[in-house]
Amino acid sequence: MGRQEEPIQVGPEDRVFVLTGAGVSAESGLKTFRDQGGLWEGHRVEDVATPEGWAADAGQVWRFYSERRKGAGQAQPNPAHRALAELEEKMGERFFLVTQNVDDLHERAGSKRVVHMHGELFMSRCENSALGAGMSGLGCERPPFRDAALYETAAAIARCACGGRIRPHIVWFGEIPLEMARIQREIDRVTVMLVVGTSGAVYPAANFVRWAGPRVRKYYIGPEEPMNAPAFARLVLGNAGEVLPGLIETGTRE
Ligand code: APR
Repeated sequence: MGRQEEPIQVGPEDRVFVLTGAGVSAESGLKTFRDQGGLWEGHRVEDVATPEGWAADAGQVWRFYSERRKGAGQAQPNPAHRALAELEEKMGERFFLVTQNVDDLHERAGSKRVVHMHGELFMSRCENSALGAGMSGLGCERPPFRDAALYETAAAIARCACGGRIRPHIVWFGEIPLEMARIQREIDRVTVMLVVGTSGAVYPAANFVRWAGPRVRKYYIGPEEPMNAPAFARLVLGNAGEVLPGLIETGTRE
């Protein structure tokens, strides 16, 4: 493997908080957003990832997420996803994983408790549901549901019993990330923070490393420095699938 990195030691008293971004799925063949050739080079954020884009052209929004459903459905978890699943297995409830990713590769690698703060690609919800508040005051009670359907045109979009259109269960720009209270609680008690494959350009996730207290050991793992690099104690520069396996030593022998 050729990794020269000094391992990150995690003891029995530690609590590990992990934040992942698009980079953790890059080696599975899924595009990141802001890298060269990334998703935001081929699409305008305003068109496909905002409430305004949805109001203007829901068909275009669904074509974008349908493509991404197809891509994620064909992708396989990589060694970085597996390393994090193994760490959870060893640490149990002292381990917390929050991802900005909407794919399900962490789960498919074996992670049990994944918080998807930006939503989930294989779930949909009614546009009038409480989570969509701000777009509509209709207050549909239907919770988000599992959905792998592909929609190519506005006319094809399924309707909820309330009459609202079915939208992706994705947190768009201008919407509030999910489960923030739980994430904040975990940050308040963490001792080790690992941030993997995220450019540090999108808030509030980019601030988690600053919300964690000064005694927390903070590490970034990815091929290049993130925008919030100064907030980390150490940058482990490399592809997550190459450097993450074996990087964390828990002191427990397999
Ligand atoms: N291993 C680890 N990191 C990688 C790898 C890899 N193999 N390849 C690329 N990266 C890193 C890049 O260096 C970059 O810092 O992944 C990061 C990807 O950054 P972004 O494309 O900005 O993705 P992310 O930070 O997850 O975006 C945050 O922005 O558009 C939104 O909602 C979307 O959740 C997303 C949010």
